[in-house]
Amino acid sequence: MRHDLSGRAALITGGARGLGAGMAAALAGAGAAVVIADLREDLGRATADALGQTGAAAAFVPLDVTDDASWERAVKATIAELGGLDVVVNNAGVELAGPLVDLDPADVRRMLDVNVLGTALGIKHAFRAMRPGGAAGHGGAVVNIASVAATTALPGIAAYSATKSAVDRLTRVAATEAGKLGYGVRVNCVYPGAGRLGEATDLADAVVFLASDAARFVTGAGLPVDGGP
Ligand SMILES: NC(=O)c1ccc[n+]([C@@H]2O[C@H](COP(=O)([O-])OP(=O)(O)OC[C@H]3O[C@@H](n4cnc5c(N)ncnc54)[C@H](O)[C@@H]3O)[C@@H](O)[C@H]2O)c1
Repeated sequence: MRHDLSGRAALITGGARGLGAGMAAALAGAGAAVVIADLREDLGRATADALGQTGAAAAFVPLDVTDDASWERAVKATIAELGGLDVVVNNAGVELAGPLVDLDPADVRRMLDVNVLGTALGIKHAFRAMRPGGAAGHGGAVVNIASVAATTALPGIAAYSATKSAVDRLTRVAATEAGKLGYGVRVNCVYPGAGRLGEATDLADAVVFLASDAARFVTGAGLPVDGGP
């Protein structure tokens, strides 16, 4: 089934490359206008331009997800560019692996910053923009990209797993806050992983589903997208 996001405006963090670029393409394919928000300006612009050449409404906006003021500017620019904001995908993330005996505090701080703080700020600014009276003001959907590492123990990625478990908890609490405070914003997360070799579109289609009205009664959920064990 194809989900229709016509008339919706979506911002994807870390959309310049990798899975985020696939999500941007899938959201655009479903009819959404998309902003790719990333640290990598060169790559982000090229990805947005390539999407634009397929006929999609796509633009690049610079964003450092760890910086509150950068979020404020990016959301403002997105609403100016797309005329609204209905979907935020908090995809930007870093994975720095290694056994606990070799733990590097700088690596852990970086993952806490990007994966945890970056996602929390993304939820904050999505809520501010989408809630009644916000600059976009029509409610919407937030999709956070966690990982199977949030729910299963795999050796060598302890700190990364901890940050992705945090993304999972942020999702659940954010969903209840949005519900109780009447924001009209659903918040869900996906746990990508590789039970079998997947395509970028396997994950991106799940993100499109959670962003769409087909998931209108789904909030505070975590969806494994890993092809099974
Ligand atoms: N690749 C996998 O198999 C896999 C599995 C599970 C979960 N994930 C998660 O999916 C997400 C995307 O993974 P990927 O493999 O495509 O990553 P990637 O490294 O290919 O791309 C990440 C993007 O995020 C951007 N980014 C990094 N820090 C940023 C910041 N501070 N502000 C804005 N943008 C920033 C990068 O510039 C890059 O474009 C991550 O959250 C990752 O943890 C990936």
